[in-house]
Amino acid sequence: MVIDLVMQAGLILVTIFMFLWMQKIPQNLFTKFRYRNRSSYAAKRHFIIGAQLLAKSRSTKDRPSAIKLARSAAEEADKSISLDPKDAASHILKALALDVQGFSTSALEALDVALSPLTSKSLSGGERGDALFKRAEIKIKSSKRGLVDSAVDDLVESVKLKGDNATAFRLLGECYEKKELKEEAVDAYAGALRADPNCTAARDAMNRLSPNSAKSDK
Ligand SMILES: *[C@@H]1O[C@H](CO)[C@@H](O)[C@H](O)[C@H]1NC(C)=O
Ligand SMILES: *[C@@H]1O[C@H](CO)[C@@H](O)[C@H](O)[C@H]1NC(C)=O
Ligand SMILES: *[C@@H]1O[C@H](CO)[C@@H](O)[C@H](O)[C@H]1NC(C)=O
Repeated sequence: MVIDLVMQAGLILVTIFMFLWMQKIPQNLFTKFRYRNRSSYAAKRHFIIGAQLLAKSRSTKDRPSAIKLARSAAEEADKSISLDPKDAASHILKALALDVQGFSTSALEALDVALSPLTSKSLSGGERGDALFKRAEIKIKSSKRGLVDSAVDDLVESVKLKGDNATAFRLLGECYEKKELKEEAVDAYAGALRADPNCTAARDAMNRLSPNSAKSDK
């Protein structure tokens, strides 16, 4: 009887992890399963449910259903935050769920909290780099003039933390181009090509901005 129960519990856990694995949920958010006490355990539980809902939302083609799932994900993130406000992962989850729903201002606010000194201690360097990248992406999408400047700051810090990431370098290059800072843009696109020589967007940009140096590269 006891063995049955243990087996069942084990099976459920395995199923949950298989599910998370298959949905390719950002693995790095799951690294810190340190249950300090009952309330942080409950907070993690809401976080996991929210992360599952967000993954489902992302893989749902039907837009209204995807939004409904994202809304539930944001609610779970809120519950998690109310129990453990210092865990940056829940704030990031909330931001991602809000972004799916198109609430970019609230998403930015949630990311600001996640990256604030109070909570960001719970993030590793790479995780912080990812959060900064996401914040920059949302700022750029909202295409307000002042936000592009602060997106540049986020991306500069992000590429430092993330190391060789072509996507982050390319986005930084695009921001510099928008700001008409040609030299900086060329440097950023060069970083993208260093990280991924097949990055066609960066290659095209190089040809556009500095045709001669791009040719001599080859
Ligand atoms: C339990 O964990 C939460 C979240 O980390 C924390 O805010 C709270 O102070 C902890 N409570 C105790 C009694 O340690
Ligand atoms: C680069 O960063 C983006 C955004 O954080 C991430 O989705 C992507 O997987 C990263 N690419 C590599 C090669 O690490
Ligand atoms: C770049 O593309 C070539 C052919 O298209 C491929 O053989 C190579 O593995 C790719 N390199 C990287 C780093 O993706």
